[in-house]
Amino acid sequence: MTFDLPVLPFTYDALEPVISQEAVKTHFEKHHLGYAAKLNKLMEGSATAKVSLENLIKTSSGSILNNAAQIWNHNFYWDCLTKLGKTSISMNLHAALSEEFGSFETFRERFTSAASELFGSGWVWLVADDTGKLQIESMPNANCPLEYGKRPLLVVDVWEHAYYLDYQSERLSYLKSWWTIVNWDFVGKQFSKIN
Ligand SMILES: [Fe+2]
Repeated sequence: MTFDLPVLPFTYDALEPVISQEAVKTHFEKHHLGYAAKLNKLMEGSATAKVSLENLIKTSSGSILNNAAQIWNHNFYWDCLTKLGKTSISMNLHAALSEEFGSFETFRERFTSAASELFGSGWVWLVADDTGKLQIESMPNANCPLEYGKRPLLVVDVWEHAYYLDYQSERLSYLKSWWTIVNWDFVGKQFSKIN
């Protein structure tokens, strides 16, 4: 059984100076591709020729689920990022976040707090539930919104491997800088799918 191998949507130096070339390279090659190698190993000998990560996430458990989810989460994480200052949030997403959280700044503060306070390793997401309501979700380890029927719009990786090379243990410094490289065009596209 095979699945599509991850592809980084930009060059290793694209997120400088917020995330260094070395950090992106290590994160992608050692961690993201590492999960892909582990999943390939776990799937050896399986009869099905080709499978989607989404399907594996919705139908598997244990190590297969964990590695498939980590690959999918990282794909989504990279898509959420772009060159410093390249994009800005659309007016309709800004309005929706303001309506749900009181203001866009309050949304950012609550998202940052959730990411700062998540104990150990994991991911913090902006998702829409099945009614389209926007929510901030903290998910430990390899958890993925697809497992819970939630539709993701934005994610930040708060595993230590995401920031340690550039920010050491200062997760909050990473988060504050991370906002400047969010790819609002991608996030806006996810938002347009839920309406
Ligand atoms: Fe990661």
